[in-house]
Amino acid sequence: MEPGTALVTGASRGIGRAIAAALAARGQRVFLVARDAEALEAAATAIAASTGAEARWATADLRAPDAAERLLGACHDVFGPPGIVVNNAGTAPTARFEKTDDALLDEVLDLHLRAPLRLLRAALPDLRAAPQGTAVQVASTAGLRGFAYTTAYTAAKHAMVGMTRALAEELGPDSSVRTYAVCPGFVETDLTRDAAATRGPEHAAKAMQAMAAMNHIGRMHRVEEVADAVVELIVRRPAGTILDLDSEPPCFVESRPVSQP
Ligand SMILES: NC(=O)c1ccc[n+]([C@@H]2O[C@H](COP(=O)([O-])OP(=O)(O)OC[C@H]3O[C@@H](n4cnc5c(N)ncnc54)[C@H](OP(=O)(O)O)[C@@H]3O)[C@@H](O)[C@H]2O)c1
Repeated sequence: MEPGTALVTGASRGIGRAIAAALAARGQRVFLVARDAEALEAAATAIAASTGAEARWATADLRAPDAAERLLGACHDVFGPPGIVVNNAGTAPTARFEKTDDALLDEVLDLHLRAPLRLLRAALPDLRAAPQGTAVQVASTAGLRGFAYTTAYTAAKHAMVGMTRALAEELGPDSSVRTYAVCPGFVETDLTRDAAATRGPEHAAKAMQAMAAMNHIGRMHRVEEVADAVVELIVRRPAGTILDLDSEPPCFVESRPVSQP
């Protein structure tokens, strides 16, 4: 991996923080983004201490239309242009289909589709100028398969995978910009723990077990596995690869040659 700057959204905790730490351990300066300043400061301090890499942060609600430009400006001020952008920030609200209203649809489409699209559009000149400009989307198995009570989320994650496929066609092989998506099953993070907690303290552990059982691999992923998969994509896999992590071994759903006629 060429040394440079990686901008990671949703990096204050969970999967995003693990990805930022893994990229920092491989020589990237990391620029962390989320809404909670205290959690970002804690994450940046811990990553810098454990890796020796520089870690800085900026707050943003990525649903805001001007967030992408503002964040990139802040990243330029601190580190210069990013060569890697990881679109990871997200929430995963659940609802029966008949309760899936426009507000819920907007929440997930804003976070999982509009924000990544805006960020990559704004960062494109930086990524094109980088020696190996790279965009990674943290999608989900919900971007590849259907899950009940998550119509909006599942549709948004399919959209994220679709955006990645389209960009791989449009930006690969003639451009230096490479795009990837990683699709984990259920991962043990605040996102799944909070969802389990809504069932009440006596049912939360069972709810976590039920999520683990829904993964094809029969257990929850660890955040480090997702982070390692992102590094593997960046370092070893051809542009356009969509990785289904919920498979033993992980399944590289779609690979296209780096150059094709
Ligand atoms: N956990 C799973 O089972 C699982 C499985 C497959 C895919 N994923 C995907 O992986 C990604 C990360 O999930 P996670 O499990 O690590 O979740 P998490 O632990 O809840 O972390 C979510 C991160 O996103 C940030 N975030 C949320 N809303 C934001 C907003 N409006 N603007 C800016 N930042 C925002 C959060 O920070 P703030 O709250 O401070 O903003 C936090 O840093 C998501 O895209 C999720 O869909 C998760």
